[in-house]
Amino acid sequence: MFLLTVHLLALGLAVVASPVQQVLSASPSNDQDQGWIDPRLNGGRFLDYTSRRFGEPLNVIISAHSDPYIMTDAGLHDYAKSIGFSEECLGLHYGHIHRADLGDGDGRKPELYLARQYYFPIWGTCWESLAGGNHFRAWKQNGTEANSGAWFLGASKEEHSGKRHKIVPNGYNLGRDWLVAKAIAGGRWKDMAWQAEVEWREDLLDSGKKGVNHGIPQDGRVAVLTVSRQ
Ligand SMILES: *[C@@H]1O[C@H](CO)[C@@H](O)[C@H](O)[C@H]1NC(C)=O
Repeated sequence: MFLLTVHLLALGLAVVASPVQQVLSASPSNDQDQGWIDPRLNGGRFLDYTSRRFGEPLNVIISAHSDPYIMTDAGLHDYAKSIGFSEECLGLHYGHIHRADLGDGDGRKPELYLARQYYFPIWGTCWESLAGGNHFRAWKQNGTEANSGAWFLGASKEEHSGKRHKIVPNGYNLGRDWLVAKAIAGGRWKDMAWQAEVEWREDLLDSGKKGVNHGIPQDGRVAVLTVSRQ
């Protein structure tokens, strides 16, 4: 009996200790367990469709294991504000709407939200729109074929509008890292505070510039955030 217990304990430890990577690369249901589903399992990809040929990296995921409030539309907007983003200037939408295929059966669906870095109160996002800066687009993985509820974000840093919102050199990596740093540091909006944990994935998106909008290379790393209410 004692031996059996030891055996079961060892087995349990082995399961717990098995590398995360191995678990993640298994079946779609395992991916669902982690709060998002790999879009590639059902025809999607980690580049959006900026145009028919080119896309920008979906380089941040907000796992559905995060605070349920930020998985809602209103909650994402509040969360974005807590880490230094705001709504678009006066509701003006620069450039055109990007689409993304999250492998959830919805095909290439339009972004739901474009958030821009908020510089300071007087100018707000209007200032950012002129000056350039960090921004992200968001899509929700909630089609019937992969209804995880996760947010997929394309974060980047762009030049000022005089340059027609071109991404700065290294702008995809920089935009992602800026957002992730803010998320880890944590922020507050109204009476709510959040802090994120990050898991870096290097097996979802090819590094380089192939198919990437503006031909700007990116390092292929995707940050998976789990955001908790403090
Ligand atoms: C998916 O989420 C978006 C944003 O919350 C919502 O507008 C849309 O109706 C949802 N789709 C489904 C099938 O529930």
